[in-house]
Amino acid sequence: MRTFLIETWGCQMNQHDSEQLTGHLLKAGLRPAGESESPDLILLNTCSVREKPVQKILSRIGELAGRKPQPTIGVCGCVAQQEGKKLLERSPAVGFVLGPGQNSNVGSALHSLRQGERSVLTDFDSELEVNYRTIFRKSPTRGMITIIEGCDEFCTFCIVPYTRGRERSRPFQEILNEVRHIVSSGLHEVELLGQTINNYQCPETGKGLSALLESVAQVPGLERIRFITSHPRYFDDQLIDVLSRHTNVSRYLHLPLQAGSDPVLRRMRRRYTRSEYLDLIGKIRGAVPDINLSTDIIVGFPGETEDDFESTLEILEEIRFGQVFAFAYSPRPGTPAAKYDEVVPQAVQKERLQRLFAVTNRISHELNQLQIGREVKVLIDGPSRRRDSDWQGRADDNRVVNFPKAGDLDVGDLVTVKVLRAGAHSLSGKFQRQLSNLRLPILENSSL
Ligand code: SAH
Ligand code: SF4
Ligand code: F3S
Repeated sequence: MRTFLIETWGCQMNQHDSEQLTGHLLKAGLRPAGESESPDLILLNTCSVREKPVQKILSRIGELAGRKPQPTIGVCGCVAQQEGKKLLERSPAVGFVLGPGQNSNVGSALHSLRQGERSVLTDFDSELEVNYRTIFRKSPTRGMITIIEGCDEFCTFCIVPYTRGRERSRPFQEILNEVRHIVSSGLHEVELLGQTINNYQCPETGKGLSALLESVAQVPGLERIRFITSHPRYFDDQLIDVLSRHTNVSRYLHLPLQAGSDPVLRRMRRRYTRSEYLDLIGKIRGAVPDINLSTDIIVGFPGETEDDFESTLEILEEIRFGQVFAFAYSPRPGTPAAKYDEVVPQAVQKERLQRLFAVTNRISHELNQLQIGREVKVLIDGPSRRRDSDWQGRADDNRVVNFPKAGDLDVGDLVTVKVLRAGAHSLSGKFQRQLSNLRLPILENSSL
């Protein structure tokens, strides 16, 4: 077995797991398959947060197993954890099943396979150890770092605590070393990851996220720090204080609300009320007025009445998020909400989602229009998806910005752009000046 390909289906943590898996496969002597090659090994790094993607993954296994020559399939990620050895029965092409706590064992799963044994590895270590030197980072602009794994919240709709295990945080100093490593490799941005990131607690010193951000913000050369996902329950005043004092700590905050009605929040076991959430937003905006807020909403949770849904629309009008990710509720096996009655029919879920998007698209558009005329700092991610003659990047507040290519710019450069136009999902403008260039430090290093 010589070549591999990884298909990634899930959240940022799942994408980062693929970077770890890539590193381990390279270490085991495999290489990425070229575009015209059929890979010997295909890893499906899967997500089970909603039912539809799970169905797609199961049919993807069938599709890949039917290829000639037949590749070996490794199922990784959250569906692997959820389904375990049942996945081996799907097809003889499935060579191993590897849960999200087992990335570093992909080499040994391959080794066992060579001996004729199909492994199912789904344990979690009690400590979170990551060897960052074996991570193969894909993005030329931003380095992702998992700082806390798992989740202990057990919101009644959610599969994550079952697929990612108990909460475990990485040592503070180790994270700081990884940040320095990323910056010295020429990247301008780090993205700290965790399902309840603001519940981070260093296993050695007990220090929390605010202390960590304080130290990370002072790493020389680091232009931007993002962190995702915060839980409203753990957003304390120290964290707000760090956001207000460090301008390189992202002007963007993702704070999932899920619903605007107290009875629904209670049945979801979110453990905050509508008014507590509103107070928190007030405090954050008081300290960081230009912050761009985004959220997640679940529509059609069991028992959601028309009145409940309208309270969600109302709170969205009141807060005015820059971006809202909304999903129809999908029952997940083994979660408490899957047994709730008063199921909301799919047609009602769909109709509510459409009404919600009409509201949130209008608000996003209005907020984006307020950006017209501003000069924003943009980190270039790559060519625009719509037009090859444009660059696409993200502003400090995470807004997508497109602008016509100009001068000698490249991916990973930090520039300023004057905003000229605004849609609901992105801004566009004109290049002003270049602030820094990541290619220089790399050249300097290689000439040493
Ligand atoms: N840790 C994050 C969310 C992780 S899952 C948090 O606490 O918010 C990402 C999003 O998927 C959730 O915020 C939720 O809106 C959505 N989601 C999770 N389970 C879902 C389900 N069963 N049906 C529909 N959406 C779901
Ligand atoms: Fe899921 Fe809730 Fe944990 Fe987020 S906090 S991962 S929604 S259980
Ligand atoms: Fe999906 Fe697992 Fe992430 S269920 S959202 S890949 S934690």
